[in-house]
Amino acid sequence: MNQPTLETKRLILRPFSLADAHDVQRLAGAWAIADTTTGIPHPYPEGAAEVWIREHPRLFAEGREVTFAIVRKSDGALIGSIGLVNISPGHQAELGYWVGEPFWGQGYCTEAAWAVLDYAFGTLGLARVYARHFRRNPASGRVMQKLGMTHEGCLRRHVVKWGKLEDLELYGILREEWRPVARP
Ligand SMILES: CC(C)(COP(=O)(O)OP(=O)(O)OC[C@H]1O[C@@H](n2cnc3c(N)ncnc32)[C@H](O)[C@@H]1OP(=O)(O)O)[C@@H](O)C(=O)NCCC(=O)NCCS
Repeated sequence: MNQPTLETKRLILRPFSLADAHDVQRLAGAWAIADTTTGIPHPYPEGAAEVWIREHPRLFAEGREVTFAIVRKSDGALIGSIGLVNISPGHQAELGYWVGEPFWGQGYCTEAAWAVLDYAFGTLGLARVYARHFRRNPASGRVMQKLGMTHEGCLRRHVVKWGKLEDLELYGILREEWRPVARP
């Protein structure tokens, strides 16, 4: 099965293609994106976007991860990335995302995440989706709250970032708590 494309009012969520690599490097290469994520290198190495994009079909085919390019309908601009990692079929997955700095604060991440939760509970039939953010990144926490996720706890000093120990806030949502009809 090929990875589907999802649609919201303002956004298309589609698989990445190699033609996106330049935009990924430009947007994800910003310090502000690396600063509050765990897997994005900084400086962003030449060619790393291509390597990352090339991995997606295999990870999707193996049922381990699904990654969507977030594209704005109005002008076709690639504005970010969103997806599910650590997928445990029939059980749960972790939601992760970044949106390029020029596009922050317009509700794009929340809108994209609604579609991905719909996909997780509807298409994949998962029972739970969780997400984690650095304590010092309240904007991401706000996205999780707007999605109706429940704050489940704090993983204290759980990761090392830029050589410092960081607390992670953990949010989760169960299938029976998901209300797609309440989509904004
Ligand atoms: C986190 C991120 C994805 C949010 O994307 P976005 O498209 O701006 O998100 P939205 O517009 O849907 O929602 C952001 C919310 O955070 C709020 N917010 C922004 N800065 C905030 C702050 N410092 N404190 C509290 N809330 C804040 C916004 O006001 C908005 O809430 P509102 O709609 O109630 O006003 C984006 O900032 C980003 O990519 N950051 C870097 C990478 C990252 O941190 N990824 C997540 C890792 S867990």
